[in-house]
Amino acid sequence: MSVAKKDIKKVTTHQLQEMKSRAEKISMLTAYDYSYAKIIDDAGIDVILVGDSASNVMAGHISTLPITLDQMIYHAQSVVRAVDRALVVVDMPFGSYQGNSSEALRSAIRIMKESGGHAVKMEGGEEVVESIKRILTAGIPVMGHLGLTPQSIYKFGTYTVRAKEKAEADKLKRDAKLLEDAGCFSLVLEKIPAELAKEVAESVDIPVIGIGAGNGVDGQVLVLHDMLGITKEFHPRFLRRYLDLYDGIKNAVGQYINDVKSTDFPNEKEQY
Ligand code: KIV
Repeated sequence: MSVAKKDIKKVTTHQLQEMKSRAEKISMLTAYDYSYAKIIDDAGIDVILVGDSASNVMAGHISTLPITLDQMIYHAQSVVRAVDRALVVVDMPFGSYQGNSSEALRSAIRIMKESGGHAVKMEGGEEVVESIKRILTAGIPVMGHLGLTPQSIYKFGTYTVRAKEKAEADKLKRDAKLLEDAGCFSLVLEKIPAELAKEVAESVDIPVIGIGAGNGVDGQVLVLHDMLGITKEFHPRFLRRYLDLYDGIKNAVGQYINDVKSTDFPNEKEQY
């Protein structure tokens, strides 16, 4: 039975908080376009992240740095049009908030106003906390992101696990507390030791969503194209593939090509 749109209970930041309180895990996936967003919303995903990983999986760049604010807004608009239930969080792209807090606020307002998304996500701790506070004053919910922060890849040098050393782990714990105190409604922890992620999740009241951060956090996020097996050559240890869409699509297209070449397609029923 289909559910009327008005009957669908939309996921809110408040509900995510309640999910943490009752130890119900939060499911989150990325999406960048209408069609996939519609499917994963229909499947019941709690949070859709319009990630700046669009730079990699949609545009083919080697990092998340090139994607622009206009491009993120375009992706977010497409996702928002598809979604009835999930909370839609939109990544603030590299260069749209690092300058100063006024620029950050302007960028966040553009995302909210032009895309209809429900919240923004920003990478970094102490360095961006002033901007986070400024954005929050405009009533825009902010999700933090610590650990491996891909917008800083040229500072890190590699995509390996972060915060294995005590000094970096201590800074991450301080940053998590700072972001919570600043008013972030949630936090993503990317590619850090499971033990550390669990400690952080237990030390803050806001929901902590992990990617490559083990099972002791309050929810999980994956890049949709990775878990569907579209990005064939990417296979980090934390990734579980639920489909092999690359080969599935390739085989289907191969079949179509054969059918066209052999004049099997279209048949009599498939024409007017
Ligand atoms: O852009 C993205 O997809 C992300 C997730 C990896 C958390 O930030």
